Amino acid sequence: MSNKHIVWHDHHVSKEERSDIKGQKPCILWFTGLSGSGKSTIANAVESKLLELGKHTYLLDGDNVRMGLNKGLTFSDEDRIENIRRIGEVSKLFVDAGTIVLTAFISPFQKERDAVRSLVKEGEFIEVFIDTPLEVCESRDPKGLYQKARKGEILNFTGISSPYEAPKKPEIHILNDRITIENVTEQIIDYLKDRGYLHAK
Ligand code: ADX
Repeated sequence: MSNKHIVWHDHHVSKEERSDIKGQKPCILWFTGLSGSGKSTIANAVESKLLELGKHTYLLDGDNVRMGLNKGLTFSDEDRIENIRRIGEVSKLFVDAGTIVLTAFISPFQKERDAVRSLVKEGEFIEVFIDTPLEVCESRDPKGLYQKARKGEILNFTGISSPYEAPKKPEIHILNDRITIENVTEQIIDYLKDRGYLHAK
């Protein structure tokens, strides 16, 4: 099907108006890291804190999105790229809605993370690297997946049989080895406060 007769419509209500009424500057907090690194746990804690502060948020989470929007996508490089592309487009819509969107996906490739960054304006994409050593993720193994990957029961497993490209210049770098969730949450909330994302209404 051709797209040539599709025309972009400007909305009557602007992104600025949607954001201002919420008392915030919308952005994407893009959590990236290995499976079991703590992305979802931290993203959940940050979202709870933002809610407490009266902010409007939405959390897009790897496993959940793969059960709906991205059902049917595998863990081949090609499908991971498509997974992230779709999530990037959805996140962009949330930003346009004035929302602070948190995403928790392994998103192993720098090129795809950069592609999402380029979809939104400067300052709207905040890359948060949850830097937990593979040994730590593997020893936690919350879903028992590393064990299966080591036995060859899961193929293309990130960190074992599929690569993970660590962010080169993340806005926020969390060394998630010996710190508490409260600590990490505070660090991320402070980043948002200091840069004016959480201004009052
Ligand atoms: S991504 O690479 O495409 O960004 P995504 O974050 O959506 O991955 O999904 C990762 C989650 O899927 C992991 O936390 C894990 O629970 C599960 N999973 C199942 N198979 C794999 C695999 N081969 N590699 C990584 N994670 C997998």
